[in-house]
Amino acid sequence: MTAPAVLPRHVAIIMDGNGRWAEHRHRPRAMGHRAGQKAVRATVRACRERGIVALTLFAFSSENWRRPQDEVGALMELFLRALDSEVDELHDNGVRLRFIGALEAFAPALRERMRAAMQHTAGNDALLLNVAVNYGGRWDIARAARALAERVARGNLDAAVIDEQLVAGQLCLADLPPPDLLIRTGGEHRISNFLLWQLAYAELYFTDTLWPDFDAAALDDALAAYAGRERRYGLTGAQSRARA
Ligand code: IPE
Ligand code: IPE
Ligand code: MG
Repeated sequence: MTAPAVLPRHVAIIMDGNGRWAEHRHRPRAMGHRAGQKAVRATVRACRERGIVALTLFAFSSENWRRPQDEVGALMELFLRALDSEVDELHDNGVRLRFIGALEAFAPALRERMRAAMQHTAGNDALLLNVAVNYGGRWDIARAARALAERVARGNLDAAVIDEQLVAGQLCLADLPPPDLLIRTGGEHRISNFLLWQLAYAELYFTDTLWPDFDAAALDDALAAYAGRERRYGLTGAQSRARA
């Protein structure tokens, strides 16, 4: 297919449907998570090849701790092994890796590997890959509010000047343009506490494809849908077309 005319700079993905993918095959849910790792690899490569600047993946939400202990354990094991097996290749491909979320909740060995991977790839610029783990959009906003409140309490900030820009500056991904396109696989039509603030004007794309089946062709379908959208930011259609 031809390349879409308008490419998003920043794509965010809620990678959903691993469990159902495995259940359809009468296999344990953990196998679906492992299959999902392949889809991550394919998607990262495709984003890099297409010239997307940043990709933000929702890998584990602050609510996912509530799953059965063996599934949480299998996911932690998978994250640990993926950090060992994937980081060198990401680095060779110029990918900069960053983790966002309340990382302090993870076991020390996992935290240390996340820190090392971020440091190892910090100089790369072919693609910025953000992986959201123990992330919640409400946590992100509450944390920003706390940081500003602490500055006010110390006398370094006048509460009257707090505006959208100051709040945005305290959030995860503050150094990036907000996501242009949010993709959710797995058929559900919800945000599930992902980047609540940052998605304010993202184009939303939902697909029934289960995450382990997502690939470059599925990404191209999403990019083609995005290229056909008109982003109006509150203007009338005529106004926004006059500016384009
Ligand atoms: C998404 O797949 C992965 C995580 C939330 C960790 P699910 O595990 O939610 O898969 P379904 O929705 O049960 O099929
Ligand atoms: C959202 O998927 C979180 C991730 C993909 C990491 P869930 O499967 O946890 O979302 P809900 O529970 O269906 O809303
Ligand atoms: Mg799910």
